[in-house]
Amino acid sequence: MASERLDKIIANYTSITRTQARKLIVGGKVTVDGVVMKKPEAKTDPECAVIKTEDTTINAKRHLYIMMNKPAGVISASRDNNATTVIDLLPEHLQRKNLFPAGRLDKDTEGLLIITDDGEFAHRLLSPKSKVNKVYIARVDNTLTENEIKLFADGVQLKDGTKCLPAKMTLLSDTVAEVQIYEGKYHQIKRMFAAVGFQVLSLQRIRIGQLSLPDNLSKSQVRELKIEEIELLCENDR
Ligand code: URA
Repeated sequence: MASERLDKIIANYTSITRTQARKLIVGGKVTVDGVVMKKPEAKTDPECAVIKTEDTTINAKRHLYIMMNKPAGVISASRDNNATTVIDLLPEHLQRKNLFPAGRLDKDTEGLLIITDDGEFAHRLLSPKSKVNKVYIARVDNTLTENEIKLFADGVQLKDGTKCLPAKMTLLSDTVAEVQIYEGKYHQIKRMFAAVGFQVLSLQRIRIGQLSLPDNLSKSQVRELKIEEIELLCENDR
C-alpha cells in the first residue's frame, strides 16, 4: 500500500474525523511504531507501521476479519445456488472480497461467526491442535441434571463411537445449558446431546476463544474486528 498522510490514514481507518485526527497528532497523542509523531502531513504506510491514537490501534492489515451474529435460516458457506448464505448477508462492498466463514454453524444455529479472507488464520482457528474453545447456549427437550454435566466432563462418546474431548457444561435453567467445547466436529453439540438422550431445540454460539458475541451486535449484523479482538479469538482459557 502506498504511503499516505497520517491524518488521512487515521480518518480513513477509524471513526475519527480528519480535523480531530490533526488535533490528536499535533497534541502528541499519536504514535507511529511507538514514536510520537506530531506532523499530520507525515507520510506513513498503514500496512507496515503500527499507528496508535489514544485508544485505538489502526487496523490496516491486508486481510479482512469480520464478526457476524448469524441468524437462523442461512447457511455458513460462501455461495449456494438455492440457499441464502452468510456472505449474501454482508454489505454489498464486502461481497466481492473472497470472504468465507471460518468454521461452520448449522443452518438453524445462531450466534458468533467469523468471516475472513485469511485462509491461514482460519486454519489456525479451526485446527484441533489449536484447541480454541467455543461456547454455546443450548436449549434441550428435557430436564438436565448433574448426570449430564458429568457425562460431558468425562468426554461424551457419540453414537458413531467417536469419543469427544471433555466439555464443560453449566446449567442456566432446567433445560438450558452453556457448553464449552475445544474441538469442532460436525454437528458436535447436537450429537453430544443426542448421545446422552437429549434433542437440541435451539443453539447459539456466544464465544470463540476469549471473544464474546457483543450484546449490541443484533442478528444478521456484522462489523470488522479490531486487532485486539483478532488476538482474543486465538486465546484459550486464562
Ligand atoms: N454444534 C452443532 O451441533 N451445531 C453447530 O452449528 C455448532 C456446533
